[in-house]
Amino acid sequence: MDHFSYIDGALHVEAVSAHSLAQRFGTPLYVYSAQTLRDHVAALRQAFAPVAPLICYSVKSCGNLSVLQLLVRQGCGMDVVSGGELQRALAAGAAPDTIVFAGVGKSAHDIRMALEHGILMFNAESEAELARIDAIAGQLGKRARVALRINPDVADAATPDKTATGGRHTKFGIPLPRALPLYRPGRYSHADVCGVHIHLGSPIPDAATYVAGIRRVEQLVGQVEAEGGRIDTVNIGGGFPASYATDDAPLPLADTGRVICAQLAGLHARGKRIVIEPGRAISANAGLLLASVEYVKQGWDRGIAILDAGMNTLLRPAMYGARHVIWPVADAGARGAWRTVAERRDAALQVVDVAGPICETGDVFALARPLPPLTEGDVLAVFSCGAYGMSMASQYNSRGRPAEVMVDGLQVREIRARETVADLLSHEIAGLRGL
Ligand code: LLP
Repeated sequence: MDHFSYIDGALHVEAVSAHSLAQRFGTPLYVYSAQTLRDHVAALRQAFAPVAPLICYSVKSCGNLSVLQLLVRQGCGMDVVSGGELQRALAAGAAPDTIVFAGVGKSAHDIRMALEHGILMFNAESEAELARIDAIAGQLGKRARVALRINPDVADAATPDKTATGGRHTKFGIPLPRALPLYRPGRYSHADVCGVHIHLGSPIPDAATYVAGIRRVEQLVGQVEAEGGRIDTVNIGGGFPASYATDDAPLPLADTGRVICAQLAGLHARGKRIVIEPGRAISANAGLLLASVEYVKQGWDRGIAILDAGMNTLLRPAMYGARHVIWPVADAGARGAWRTVAERRDAALQVVDVAGPICETGDVFALARPLPPLTEGDVLAVFSCGAYGMSMASQYNSRGRPAEVMVDGLQVREIRARETVADLLSHEIAGLRGL
């Protein structure tokens, strides 16, 4: 379910050749397919149709303004985790009453901004935060709508430790047994505690994990209502899967959605509004990273391709050991008809390490990866990079962050300019003058 495919050995992004993008904009370059983004929203909407959720796209996965604008036009709300993301969402045209605000460390400044704009809901992560939201709402003479992010002590064994959030030993959410009293009517003067939020990890490969979390939510909702409290919103977070293993596997969204909707049916039937916060399920397979081979060097016992992109450009392999499909954008050597890397099997491949230019041993995209023979100047595509690619890029080693491009059919737009060294230095110049 994407619009990246090989035509006569040349990778195309929708109707545009990836090589021409690399030539025109340089590398490293993030490239997004507009139609793939739209298709993913449609697939989610279909998968979750029985509970008709508000889809709040997780801005942290890929927050480029043009990406957000496109998703707003597809009817998405936004899930933000900072004042910065809130301003991004608003700048892209998101309606405030479609924005939910999560995160364990919301500052007073950011809470105030969110209240002034009239966002849909806070997802509060602690009693202390709830008290702060209540106090600030009081100062502003506003009412705050709040969902409690509960920590249900539910984990998915296949979610990486660094991004598993539903277990009791993580910093996230309010431990389930502490939640009930916070819903007591009248406990807060300016906060309406009227929602439950869970986000159990990213990604969550097993739909049974959602089911376990939703069961705990159902119990809590029953207890709250028995005590006279009111819950109108149930937010099950994000973590819905994307495809990383191949460049063409369909997203298993339909199956995941069916299982989750079955479990949510009771809450939906009782009039609760369902919210989901997908990030990667929308953006991951809608983006790729183009990088050029700077050198092919010979190590002790293997070849090593050094790219112009590294952990500064795409952190996921170094940070999580994440595997991404990597393939040259121009690969005329293969015989037969094929459109995806997964279908291309007949080439004489060479095993190489694919590494970045950063001065760290961990700056490696792939070890011992079979690839067609590479030479200096070849452009490679790193697939499934739309989520947590550019949004986690840094300026490490004083390398500016890459440009971003959006392709829509034949149309190509640069949606973020490449950072220059002048950009990097500009924040430090004043300090230099002061010496
Ligand atoms: N909602 C909340 C409260 C979250 O914390 C997150 C992600 C999401 C939704 C969206 O999750 P998604 O649908 O994208 O899986 N950098 C890591 C992932 C970190 C996820 C953080 N929170 C990675 O590259 O895999």
